[in-house]
Amino acid sequence: MSTLQNDLLLKTLRGEQTSRPPVWMMRQAGRYLPEYIRIREKYSFFERCQTPELACEITLQPVDIVGVDAAILFSDILVVPQAMGLEVQLIEHKGPVLPDPIKSNADFARIRVPDVDETLGYVFDAIRLIKKELNGRVPLIGFAGAPWTLLCYMVQGKGSKTFDEAKAFCYTQPETAHQLLQMITDTTIAYLRQQIHAGADTVQLFDSWGGLLSPDDFAVWSLPYISQIVAAVKDEAPVIVFAKGAWHSLEAMAATGAQGLGIDWCISASMARQFAGDKVTLQGNFDPAKLFAPIPVIEAETRKMLRAFGPGRYIANLGHGILPQVPVDHAKAFVNTVKEFAW
Ligand code: CP3
Repeated sequence: MSTLQNDLLLKTLRGEQTSRPPVWMMRQAGRYLPEYIRIREKYSFFERCQTPELACEITLQPVDIVGVDAAILFSDILVVPQAMGLEVQLIEHKGPVLPDPIKSNADFARIRVPDVDETLGYVFDAIRLIKKELNGRVPLIGFAGAPWTLLCYMVQGKGSKTFDEAKAFCYTQPETAHQLLQMITDTTIAYLRQQIHAGADTVQLFDSWGGLLSPDDFAVWSLPYISQIVAAVKDEAPVIVFAKGAWHSLEAMAATGAQGLGIDWCISASMARQFAGDKVTLQGNFDPAKLFAPIPVIEAETRKMLRAFGPGRYIANLGHGILPQVPVDHAKAFVNTVKEFAW
């Protein structure tokens, strides 16, 4: 395997000094690039995920077109519930639908911890192909959903602003809920390890709905499972934990030993650093909607963000995924402002 020509991201995750911060954008693969939309017109979502050549092409697009410092695998967090035995559909303009969600013990009995090589081998094939095509230009980020966020979809059966049915399941059937979280955790550990063995240089855990829980409930329903995953993976490759909205638990998340912590735009750089301590790399936190601002505003606000985080242990990113309607030159302005910056 060739060594990396651009290892800003990995150096930053290891806490080494660099001349500028690395930059990538959550959900950079897919969504807003016209080159992606053309592929979307020809193949279904899971065809795109399950065909290594397509996943590879989509993964490389933001590297080639926007010039980010890292590639993120094109896939979805919901391939794990799929591998565990649930049907998952992605319906355009509606988002994910799981037609037979887990509501009872009988539903739960249908769920298994799968052999990841048998059920998710296409992901590892895609990673091997992507690494070959990247040819060491930038590192590759693998990923998975955090157990709490996956439980939300597996129980609610669709997207939701509150995930009230998922919470009701936890509060009425806590033992089953914890068993389910443990099964997701075991699957995710095997899945991320195999992503790393196939070539992922670092992995990110997305707890997109962590912020729906109170701090006490986050400590019960999310953090223990994130901790298990970090402990099992962090010595094989650096782990970035992004629990959107769960700024109250940055200190506890840093204590898991994760090398990176993602933050959204609802916390300032100085508060995040104060909570997380100085031994972890922070990643974020530009408001994705601010990419709709005029380019000079994007440039000024991006510089302001970089100065606020200060040198070292910082990865420039958005505070959540890039929005589908963002003009490509606005995304490029964000990325280029970071690349032209020097501490
Ligand atoms: O950078 C990347 O985009 C890499 C691939 C990626 C996708 N999903 C592809 C995708 C990643 C990292 C994800 C993560 C993901 N998926 C999360 C966590 C991150 C977050 O945004 O909070 C969540 C909650 C999901 C579940 C999911 N998948 C939803 C809610 C949707 C529909 C709306 C949306 O977010 O786009 C999807 C579909 C999906 N996953 C699309 C893509 C490119 C859009 C479908 C399409 O283009 O046809």
